[in-house]
Amino acid sequence: MSTSANTDFAPRSSTQEMDRRAKFVETFESSPIPRRELVYSQLSLYLTRQELSRMYAMTELYRDYVLGTNGVLMEFGTCYGRTSALLTNLRGMFEPFNFTRKLVIFDTFSGLCGTNEKDGNDRLATDGAYCAGDGYENHLAEVLSYHESESPISHRKKFEIVKGDASKSISTYLEKHPETIVAMAYFDFDIYGPTKACLEALRPHLTKNSVLAFDELNCPEYPGETSALAEVFGLGKCSLKRSPFSPWMSYTTCESIAG
Ligand SMILES: C[S@@+](CC[C@H](N)C(=O)[O-])C[C@H]1O[C@@H](n2cnc3c(N)ncnc32)[C@H](O)[C@@H]1O
Repeated sequence: MSTSANTDFAPRSSTQEMDRRAKFVETFESSPIPRRELVYSQLSLYLTRQELSRMYAMTELYRDYVLGTNGVLMEFGTCYGRTSALLTNLRGMFEPFNFTRKLVIFDTFSGLCGTNEKDGNDRLATDGAYCAGDGYENHLAEVLSYHESESPISHRKKFEIVKGDASKSISTYLEKHPETIVAMAYFDFDIYGPTKACLEALRPHLTKNSVLAFDELNCPEYPGETSALAEVFGLGKCSLKRSPFSPWMSYTTCESIAG
């Protein structure tokens, strides 16, 4: 499930989990490990089982579906950018010389935008939730540039951050890039409006091998993502799969949608 930017940490957690995790944050903050070593070799000391599982599920998705097909990666809803960073590093690991594997990132960076009645009434399904903060995209660009610099062909920038309401910016992006073929689109807006708008806009850019992946299908707190997929492609046409390592992530290739 998603991180919580400007929201309570882990909205589904029990009180004991919340207390334990708050204490672990203190443990992390008081880490005696020198910062340089922390960043370059010891970060996994603090990596949780849940986050490791999510990374593993994404790694499988990349290896088994993205690697053998042409096209760009698109992330819809990045927040602080953990998935963008992971995808950048997976590209560097699995296909270091594929400079055509661009990563396009869509986010307002000011939180959810365009919630409506199809999004239910969870307190985190409201405009402004998951705000990463003013100017966060600059920090993200710096981090992604660093990760790119650690892999070959780093003089070619392979990511683009598209800031703004994706319901509108998706068309502008695709008009500017009519060559776009989607290898994988990862949806984590959590909500109906932008998910539906982006699914519709992507349609002419999908091949049978394109992967559509989602973070909140079948999610009672965020019903809008399921509604968007149902309305654009029809749930009955999607051969939905999931990794045993992630309770939330699920995906379909467009082969099943094309029939
Ligand atoms: C749950 S967070 C994403 C979490 C992130 N994928 C992760 O794994 O940490 C949802 C993100 O979608 C973005 N978002 C929601 N509605 C949007 C819209 N209409 N246009 C662009 N971004 C939007 C929010 O700003 C937020 O960063």
